[in-house]
Order: sequence, then structure tokens, then C-alpha cells
Amino acid sequence: MISSILQGAKILATGSSVPDLCLNNEDLSQIVETSDDWIINRTGIKERRILGDRHKSIIDLASSASIEALEKASMNPADIDLIILATSSPNDLFGSASQLQAKIGATKAVAFDLTAACSGFVLGIVTATQFIQNGSYNNILVVGADVLSNWIDWSDRSTCILFGDAAGAAIIQSCPKEDNGILGFQLNTDGSKSFQLSIPYEKNNEKVMQKQSLNIFQGQFKNIIMNGKEVYKFAVSQVPVSILQCLKSLNILPEDIHWLLLHQANERILHAVANRLSINSNKIISNLNKYGNTSAASIPLALNEALNEKKIKHNDIIVISGFGAGLTWGTVVIKWKC
Ligand code: COA
Repeated sequence: MISSILQGAKILATGSSVPDLCLNNEDLSQIVETSDDWIINRTGIKERRILGDRHKSIIDLASSASIEALEKASMNPADIDLIILATSSPNDLFGSASQLQAKIGATKAVAFDLTAACSGFVLGIVTATQFIQNGSYNNILVVGADVLSNWIDWSDRSTCILFGDAAGAAIIQSCPKEDNGILGFQLNTDGSKSFQLSIPYEKNNEKVMQKQSLNIFQGQFKNIIMNGKEVYKFAVSQVPVSILQCLKSLNILPEDIHWLLLHQANERILHAVANRLSINSNKIISNLNKYGNTSAASIPLALNEALNEKKIKHNDIIVISGFGAGLTWGTVVIKWKC
């Protein structure tokens, strides 16, 4: 892969942001019939953050995560060439990335949304890397942000316990080919299973307009629907295959990796995937006990925390995998460059 690129790409800095409002399992047991024990045993989640302020939106979370990353990189927002906002809960169906561009003052950046649910950040990193490695852009801000509390059925105990709101950001920058830090990727989609996890748009039976042969039906988005057991089986069976394929293409053995950073969906999924790959559990990066499943934000949120804790060292190999609605899943392998 390294020989076909014009320039290398590396993650320069990261940031993250979560809302102040913390909802723990005890609080949830006041809303639906559940318990702290059940949620911890089945998911590993203890608490999650919820954007409770009606005057705040995904853009507030995304911009504070971005500003943290920009400050760490000592970079002026006007130096960003492209913003990719991975989200499934935008402010505006026409796209929210432009609002983020305006809010952080990245006046020269092109900005667009990328929708791939919990795989969105991985797809965002891979997309950004293409623009950099082919020489088009030098500085790209990739943000994963979701406010799924807007789309949860708060009477459905099988989903409302899982999700939280957050944003995470990474600045990807060009570098000499020899220092390339984004080594390779492997991506997948299976649209035939999209019904297993979805926020469907449903049209009403009533027409909003009927004129001669013109019939217009309108509708609205529903809440999250999920077949938890099937999604669980999909994740533990398909994610290891993606990781192994990606590692094989790079001639890296599973035992050579330093960190396994999976989409933070369920502690049991993280361990099942690590077991299948014979990766020691002390290499798993996990913070979902504090935040739950934050969708596109979960990987950059956990990455930023691990970096802030100085866990990740120069030249460490990090295997990052996202998976979720679509169904989409994929892996990107990174060699960390300080
Ligand atoms: N509290 C208490 N009981 C609950 C509950 C809750 N929050 N949610 C479900 N239950 C009950 C069920 O009603 C069922 O009861 P029954 O045996 O009397 O019918 C029992 O617990 C087992 O339910 P089940 O759905 O089989 O549990 P599970 O072990 O599959 O765990 C999930 C459910 C959702 C935690 C699990 O399937 C999962 O994590 N799946 C992956 C979901 C995911 O990660 N989605 C996002 C991907 S990006």
C-alpha cells in the first residue's frame, strides 16, 4: 500500500466532548423495568451522558471536540482543508458539517456529512486518508458525533439502556511517505440486513396532496428499532474476519498489535472479538462503562481518552474496528506517530 501513495497520513491530534447530564443505570430503572445488575452484566455499561439542554445540539458537542483537537495540534481552524462529520443524528437532513465549519471558523474547509452509523468514524478516517494520500488535501478534521437520545424510544428497555450522546474528533495530516501512520483498511456493507438496526422513515397513510395523478405522501422518522441478538451475533462473527483480513494484507500478526479499539457497543462484544483473535484482554481499549454506545463518537472518544492517559506510545499498532447499522463494518490499522 505504501508504494502507491503520494504522501503519508497520520492522526495529529484528537479531542472529545460529552454532555454534562449523566444518566446512570439506577436512574434508568426509574424509567423502564430494568436494573443496574442486568445492564452491567449484559452490557458493561454503568452510565451514559445525555444532551438534556434543548438549546444545545450535536454541533455544540462536535465543535468542542474539534476545538480540543485543534488546540492540541496548535492549529488554526483556517488551516483545515476538509471536514467530514460522521453522524446519523444530524441537525439538518441537508447536512450538519457546514454548521460545524461555521461554528469553529474553518472558513477554507469543504465540509460534508457521512452517514454510516457506528462505523461512521472508521469510514471517515478511511475517506480522509484517501484525500491525503493522493495529494489532494493536507489537513482534515474527522468528527464522529451522535445524539441518539433524540431517536430512542424511552419506553423500550432493550435499546434505551445502550446509547449515550457524545462527539470525538481527529485531525489527520499529511506527512512523508515513510512516516505514514494509517497503514490499511478493510470495509464491508450488507444492506440485506439493514432492518436489524434502523431509524426508519415511515410515510403516513394520508396523502398531503392529491391532484389528478399526483399523490404526495409524507411521513416522519421513527425511533431506533433493533434486533439485539442478531446484531450481537453479527458483530462477534464479522468483526474478527474484517480484522484478520486487514492484518493479513499488511503482514501483521494479531499478536503484534498493541491496542484493540472497537466500537464501544457492549463489553461482551469487545471481549468476544478479542478472544476470537487470541488478543490479550489487557490490549482492549474500553470506556463504555462511562458513556454507553455513543455511535459514531465512540471510537474517537475512547481514542482521545487513551491518548490523554498516555497509554498509547510512539509506533504502537492500533487496530480500530467499527460496526453497526447498515449493516456496515470495517477495520483501519494505525501505527501511532507522536
Ligand atoms: N433490563 C432487564 N431485562 C431486560 C432488558 C433490560 N434492559 N432488556 C431485555 N430484557 C429481558 C428480555 O425481555 C428477556 O427476557 P425473557 O427472557 O423473559 O424474554 C431477557 O432480558 C433476555 O433478553 P435478550 O434480548 O435475549 O438479552 P441479550 O442477552 O441478548 O442482551 C442486548 C440484550 C441488547 C444487551 C444484547 O443483545 C446486545 O448487546 N446486542 C447488541 C446490540 C448492539 O450492540 N447494538 C448496537 C450495535 S452498533
